[in-house]
Amino acid sequence: MNVSDFKRMKAASQKIAMTTCYDYWSACILNESKIDALLVGDSAAMVMHGHSSTISATTDVMVYHTASVARGARDKFIISDLPFMSYCKGLVPAMETVDVLMKAGANAVKLEGVEGLQDLIKQIVQSGAPVMGHLGLMPQSVNRLGGYKVQGRGSEAQTLLIQQAKQLENAGCFAVVLECVPSTVGQTISHHVNIPTIGIGAGRHVDGQVLVLHDLMGFNRDPKKFVREFTNGFEIVRSAANKFTEVVKDGTFPSNSNSYE
Ligand code: KIV
Repeated sequence: MNVSDFKRMKAASQKIAMTTCYDYWSACILNESKIDALLVGDSAAMVMHGHSSTISATTDVMVYHTASVARGARDKFIISDLPFMSYCKGLVPAMETVDVLMKAGANAVKLEGVEGLQDLIKQIVQSGAPVMGHLGLMPQSVNRLGGYKVQGRGSEAQTLLIQQAKQLENAGCFAVVLECVPSTVGQTISHHVNIPTIGIGAGRHVDGQVLVLHDLMGFNRDPKKFVREFTNGFEIVRSAANKFTEVVKDGTFPSNSNSYE
């Protein structure tokens, strides 16, 4: 998969499946899966580091995770999030962040919003780095939005989102994430833009879906409404740790076959 496949897949009505990925070992596994593309999301700050929002993600953290994923998922298209504030302090610091993420192994970058960002997006795209947009619930703006709430309810909000998606397309984005919007909004936006829409909590009438890996693996004890768990990762890890502890304590591990002569 490369950046042109996104548009091609939308044109062919083929759904795009993406998941987040933050580290080497899961990247190795996902590299051998059918998943179309990987997102090194700034959700790493929450999922991997226990912060309460993505605002804590720094450029150094994103570079570290991106490089780890790139070492493991050599055959996948990797998109890395530009962290909070890293693209709002002017062109030069923004381009420097893009530079280090691409050098760490990203094939594209993602940023949230469009207001005041169109020239920057054009500049990034012109420099050779594809850009994915992100609209609807934008976690980096959680303080402005007043919490993690569904966005785009009501006709005015829907019209604004359609305009914003068009602006992202015109600025040169190759795809746009739509997070937590009513499914009719996801459908309408997907109809109005030629670039693929990748939904997370945006219903099924979008061009693709992205989920946080740990959510789809069932590691999250408090899954959100839009998540489907495809296995019970939490229980798998806990039960393996418990089984290991039991055999260590009863002396049956290591056995002869686990021991050197
Ligand atoms: O950081 C992230 O995981 C994301 C997804 C929610 C799309 O941006």
